[in-house]
Amino acid sequence: MVGIGHTRWATHGPPSDVNSHPHVDCTGRVAVAHNGIIENWREIKDRLIKEGHKFVSDTDTEVIPHLIEEFKKQGMQPYEAFKSAVKELKGAYALVALDMDEPSKVFFARHTSPLVIGLGDGVNFLASDIPAFLKYTRKVVVVRDDEVGYITSSEVVMERGKRVGENSIEWMSVDLHPRVRVVEWTPEMAMKEGFPHFMLKEIHEQPRALSSTLAGVREIVRDVAKELRGASRVIVVGAGTSYHASYIGALMLSNLGGLPAQALISSEMRWYARSVSEGDVVIAVSQSGETIDTLLAARAAKGKGAKVVALSNVVDSAIPREADLAIYTRAGPEIGVAATKTFTTQVLTFALLSVEVGRLRGVLSEAEASNHAKVLGKVPEIASHIISVFEARAKTVAKTMAEKEHAFYLGRGFGLPVSMEGALKLKEVAYVHAEAYPAGESKHGPIALVEEGFPVVFTALSLDESELIKSNVEEMRARYAWTLAVAPKNAYELLRNVDVAFPMPELPSTASAVLYVLPYQLIAYYTAVAKGYDPDKPRNLAKTVTVV
Ligand code: AGP
Repeated sequence: MVGIGHTRWATHGPPSDVNSHPHVDCTGRVAVAHNGIIENWREIKDRLIKEGHKFVSDTDTEVIPHLIEEFKKQGMQPYEAFKSAVKELKGAYALVALDMDEPSKVFFARHTSPLVIGLGDGVNFLASDIPAFLKYTRKVVVVRDDEVGYITSSEVVMERGKRVGENSIEWMSVDLHPRVRVVEWTPEMAMKEGFPHFMLKEIHEQPRALSSTLAGVREIVRDVAKELRGASRVIVVGAGTSYHASYIGALMLSNLGGLPAQALISSEMRWYARSVSEGDVVIAVSQSGETIDTLLAARAAKGKGAKVVALSNVVDSAIPREADLAIYTRAGPEIGVAATKTFTTQVLTFALLSVEVGRLRGVLSEAEASNHAKVLGKVPEIASHIISVFEARAKTVAKTMAEKEHAFYLGRGFGLPVSMEGALKLKEVAYVHAEAYPAGESKHGPIALVEEGFPVVFTALSLDESELIKSNVEEMRARYAWTLAVAPKNAYELLRNVDVAFPMPELPSTASAVLYVLPYQLIAYYTAVAKGYDPDKPRNLAKTVTVV
């Protein structure tokens, strides 16, 4: 039995039945599902319409089955017709095709968008991501750019395309054996194990994920620290949650490592790329390792002679493969669309890296560095404590938050990127319009929105940050805002002055930057549940974003 399917994110044409994949040709014998964007779809479609093809959808994908049909009309066998169609495509694609004239095969091709093969016992799989088939097999081959082939239940054939001239490709057979990898992830990791949602399971999994990461990254962190030691500049790039981890990473590398470091949103990198040069190190942060914006930012940096270091959770994914060095967090597969455990493990990695860089550069004394390292070693245990102490309070907060339309998350210093992550979580799973701002900026505009009951959530990771935030809390209270704070438990004055307090363990910023987000993950999760939403499948979002 063979089959193909696709959860569509909708780049061309609205989400509707007619635009859903698979798309078929005029004969109904060829079907295609595709992730990515075909850039030259319009010209192909116009040409095929002139040749008599009838299209029914608004998608770019629909041109592919019609192209295959066209090549078959010229007398080609299905696989040759598929390869000829692929040759014409420009853009990003991971695609699978069925042809009723060779019904035991699923054809595949990849350019830029992720595609993996799962090798089972009497069954083979193709998917965008490993967890899709983890229940059936842990034997994996990652398909690389410009590879095509087909699978049957017992066979995998793969070829690599080499462009010769403008419009011609030579296909060379690929030996799969050295590429087969057995992933460490277990099938249970991709199951809910009694939790109602993956997001809640993954929040609770953080102590384990942090502990595996601590054990797993030590050696490579030392190698990367040596690379960073003499860097003239460090740019940390990422998207969404990974950008927030990048922001914290840049702050840590600058504060503890004494390096000139800045964070950039991956899709904004092109406007800075001109200034990148040899001597710079770019750290590309992406849990999936496949986010196209981050991949392109890394490529741009490499093209300018910078060293690229990848920080990812998925071994062999595109960004680490193209980087000079790769650090892998050990969070295990993350299924929930909202990143939780991958974020805290990324931040932990940055903490370890920054401490090591600080030590190597003499910014931190041996005693200071070993004190940071000691506390970081306890992070998994403290994470478990925070989750158990604050879960019930987060649930109570969620009941009120579920009635709100907007919220501010305000912080200073390290508290700002943690606030940004808190706001993003609430926005993406509970659809509350949450904005993060530097607390000192709120009086320069955003405060105009605040009225009675408006939620304002403050984050302070240290007593210093708490002191600076006190006046901002007063400003909000004077306007009858509903105030909440996540701050160290000895920030008595701040915590006393808010409506809901989360008194957190007093820790060095390296550890608090990892941990202070935990109440926000719980608030977002329980707010989504209180509003009746499925936090694992937020509308309009995809786990891995492979379109620019
Ligand atoms: C996180 O909750 C989001 N779903 C999203 O912002 C995500 O962090 C972003 O798309 C980057 O993904 P990556 O880490 O796989 O590169």
